[in-house]
Amino acid sequence: MRFKGKHVLVTGGAGFIGSNLTDALVREGARVTVLDDLFTGNLDNISCLSDIEFINGSVTDFELVDRLVMKSDIVFNLAVRNIIVSTVSPRLDFQVNTGGVFNVLQSAKKHGIERVVYASSASVYGNPRYLPINEDDRLSTLSPYAASKLAGENYCTAFHESYDVPVVMLRYSNVYGINQNPNNPYCGVISKFFDNMLNKYPPSIHGDGEQTRDFTYVDDVVEATMIAAQHPKGDGEIFNVASGIETSINDLAAYIAKLVDYPLPAVYVDKRDIDNIRRRVLNIEKIRRSLRWTPTTNLRTGLKKTGEWLLGIRSSKTRETRIVNVAQAG
Ligand SMILES: NC(=O)c1ccc[n+]([C@@H]2O[C@H](COP(=O)([O-])OP(=O)(O)OC[C@H]3O[C@@H](n4cnc5c(N)ncnc54)[C@H](O)[C@@H]3O)[C@@H](O)[C@H]2O)c1
Repeated sequence: MRFKGKHVLVTGGAGFIGSNLTDALVREGARVTVLDDLFTGNLDNISCLSDIEFINGSVTDFELVDRLVMKSDIVFNLAVRNIIVSTVSPRLDFQVNTGGVFNVLQSAKKHGIERVVYASSASVYGNPRYLPINEDDRLSTLSPYAASKLAGENYCTAFHESYDVPVVMLRYSNVYGINQNPNNPYCGVISKFFDNMLNKYPPSIHGDGEQTRDFTYVDDVVEATMIAAQHPKGDGEIFNVASGIETSINDLAAYIAKLVDYPLPAVYVDKRDIDNIRRRVLNIEKIRRSLRWTPTTNLRTGLKKTGEWLLGIRSSKTRETRIVNVAQAG
C-alpha cells in the first residue's frame, strides 16, 4: 500500500494510461480524484470508478484545477490532446498540453504539494542522431504535439528551479496495452493492427514499415510513474520510460499476425504528416540506476495480454474461438 492515505489527482485519468494508473493507485491505497473532460477518455476504462471522485472538467480551467490541486498530495498530469488532434488544431494542443500543466504547476506552487508527475513523450527527441537515445541528447520538435509536450517539461523545470516546486518528468515511449481502445480513432498502432486482423482486414502500414519504435507495456509505465512520484532521486529529474528495445513496424505486424493466426500480408499506404520519425529506441539506464525501475513485460507477453483483452471486449461467441488462437500462438 505505497500510497495509503495519500490524496492524488490524476488529470486525464479516464484515458488509456491514466485509467490504468488510477486503478493501480486505488489498489495502492490512494484516495484518487480524476479530472478528465472525456475527450478521448471513457469512464468504462476505470474499473474502480465507485472508489474514486470523478470530475468532468478541463485542465484549462484554472479555478477548477486550483481547487483540486489544493486538496492533493501528489498530482499526475496526463491530460492531453493527442498527436493527431494536435496536428490539426495546434492552438488547442498548446492550451491543453502546455496550458494544463502550467495550471497544475501554478497551483502546486501556491499549495506546496509533494510532487507533480508530468507525463511527457519520447516525441521530444524527433529524429535522433544516436541510438539508444539518452535524456540529455539533442531535442527536436517535429510536430506541434512534441513542441507542446516539451514546453510542459520546460515549465516543470522552471517551476522547480525558480519556486522549488517538486516535479518529475517522464518521457514515455509508444505505450500499448489494456484500455487502448481501437474504437478510439487516435489509438496506437498495436490496437489498430489487432483490430484489423481480428476483423480479417490486412493491417495498413504507413510508409515502408522499416520505421522503428520502442514499444512499452502499460503496466510497466504505470509502475515507473508510481515509483517516480515518491522516489527521492526523482525530484527535478527527467527520465526515459521505455522497453529499451527497437522493433520495426513490419516485425510488429508479423508478431501480431502470428498471435491471431492472420494469413495475409500487410498493405502499404502513404505516410501521414505525423510519420516523420524514422527510428526510435530509448536508453533506460538512468531510471534503472536512479529509481531502480526496470520493465518486466516483454513485447511477446505484452502483445498476448493486449490481444486477450481486445478479444474480451468483442462478442463472447467470437471471444471463445479466438482466445484459443492467441493462447496457441504462444
Ligand atoms: N500512449 C502513448 O504511447 C504515449 C506516449 C508518450 C507520452 N504519452 C503521454 O501520456 C499521457 C496519457 O496519454 P494516453 O495515451 O493515455 O492518451 P489518452 O488520449 O488515452 O488520454 C488522455 C486523457 O486526457 C483527457 N483530456 C483531453 N483533454 C483534456 C482536458 N482539456 N482536460 C482534462 N482531460 C483532458 C482525455 O479525455 C483522455 O482521457 C499523455 O500526457 C501523453 O502525452 C502517451
